[in-house]
Amino acid sequence: MIEASQLDPFEATRAVLEELKRRRSEGETSLYLEDSTLLSLQRALLAQGGALEQEQVIGNESDSDQTDFPPELSSSTPPRTEPSASVGRFPDPPCLQLPKDGSKAKRWEWLRERVLSCQVCNEQLNPGGKIVFGTGSLDADLFFCGEAPGAEEEAKGTPFVGPAGELLDRIISAMGLTREAVYTGNVVNFRPRHERAFGNRPPTPEEMNFCLPYLRAQLEVVQPKVIVALGKTATDGLLGHDPNRRLGQMRGNWHDYSDIPMMVTYHPSYLLHNPSKSSKRKVWEDMLMVMERLELPISEKQRGFFQ
Ligand code: URA
Ligand code: URA
Repeated sequence: MIEASQLDPFEATRAVLEELKRRRSEGETSLYLEDSTLLSLQRALLAQGGALEQEQVIGNESDSDQTDFPPELSSSTPPRTEPSASVGRFPDPPCLQLPKDGSKAKRWEWLRERVLSCQVCNEQLNPGGKIVFGTGSLDADLFFCGEAPGAEEEAKGTPFVGPAGELLDRIISAMGLTREAVYTGNVVNFRPRHERAFGNRPPTPEEMNFCLPYLRAQLEVVQPKVIVALGKTATDGLLGHDPNRRLGQMRGNWHDYSDIPMMVTYHPSYLLHNPSKSSKRKVWEDMLMVMERLELPISEKQRGFFQ
């Protein structure tokens, strides 16, 4: 959490920028901010321009929100709030009764129908948009979990088909697997709405919380041996938001989700923005741990990637 209120405006802005840069270098591409912090930040920026009196500080504590963490940070980028988390009471997550009997395919179809026709998603959270449900092998040992579909995914109705998806494909193929052999899904099944002409907004904690039963049900059908959580947002969506969580400390270690071993790694979009050998190496090290856990063959060549 960034606490900007106790410093003078110039120092506060500099401190916030330093913290943002540090987080970006750690791999974070989205950021959780208290409303009060946003207010302080806005005021600090305005005060630097001489537009605001110094003693006008800090608003009230209210609902928190999640704001973009743009790839190219600049001090003139205004903080942005999204309407969905702050307007009214957020709908309760759906109560699902996944059929206990029947084949995986039947149960998955049931679930897919249920998600595609989710009234809250279609009418409230994602009006006019398309739902993107998970895909892949229902017998997959490996379940990749992203945060939410982007524009390409929404257009095609399939997760991970844009640039991040192409990179994910290359990672999967470097592991000796195919997209068809694994399962890919997202915490949120719709593209989070925003008012800009392009780009994606990370889903809010409320949106993720709403869709989580749909993800859990997919896990219940597929029963993978390992989940790979892609990026900080998906990790927060699965485990609950924790302001002290650092992706750099989570990755490379085993965690659990619903009693399933879970590896956390950087999101492929993060790699696209930070294509350094060391970031790629880290993701690859995480994937080697996954391959070991799944007892997949690992060649010397594979071990040596990004050395
Ligand atoms: N990013 C995600 O997290 N999921 C997708 O499906 C595509 C991009
Ligand atoms: N945060 C993200 O959203 N993605 C990453 O890969 C790392 C941090």
